[in-house]
Amino acid sequence: MNRTIRRMTMEDLSAIVELDKMSFSLPWPERSFRFELTDNPASRCWVVEMDGRIIGMIVAWLLVDEAHIATIAIHPDHRQQGIARELLTYALRYMSKEGAISSFLEVRESNTVAREMYRKFGYEEVGRRKRYYKDNNEDAILMTLEHLNVEMFEGSSGRNK
Ligand SMILES: CC(C)(COP(=O)(O)OP(=O)(O)OC[C@H]1O[C@@H](n2cnc3c(N)ncnc32)[C@H](O)[C@@H]1OP(=O)(O)O)[C@@H](O)C(=O)NCCC(=O)NCCS
Repeated sequence: MNRTIRRMTMEDLSAIVELDKMSFSLPWPERSFRFELTDNPASRCWVVEMDGRIIGMIVAWLLVDEAHIATIAIHPDHRQQGIARELLTYALRYMSKEGAISSFLEVRESNTVAREMYRKFGYEEVGRRKRYYKDNNEDAILMTLEHLNVEMFEGSSGRNK
């Protein structure tokens, strides 16, 4: 088994769109990923590739000194193996080296799996956006990770708390 994390490229688009559809009730249209890859200077996009297949992806925005996690997904066949933890660790470490000192994200209230993962990274719930998700009017929980720094994840696989 050969698994690596690398930058997302245009060649990955169709696999990413498929993975996104499997993972979210409101998947992004292909043009959104295309925009991230071509027209958004804040965007940092990585994939997890295993034996030539895309099994994970993350899109983040480096906004001055804040790393905003826009989306992250792991293929259903490869969940609960620590891959998201590895990918998020990689992205946060990369962006902290670029100057990020905190991180921010929104997550569906019902997404207890993701909320638990973020909590383990040290993200704290700081608020909510009412009826943020248009498919079911679900609230978004806002989470922030303060005091992000490179050393935070050194020698670990991502658990910060
Ligand atoms: C959320 C998601 C990315 C996690 O990916 P994953 O590779 O399975 O996660 P990991 O194996 O790295 O687990 C990281 C942590 O997540 C939590 N977690 C993962 N799967 C879980 C489950 N089925 N039940 C409870 N907690 C779970 C645990 O806290 C876990 O830490 P632990 O290994 O110390 O217990 C994945 O479930 C997914 O793609 N979901 C659909 C898309 C999504 O919801 N993305 C997040 C949007 S904000």
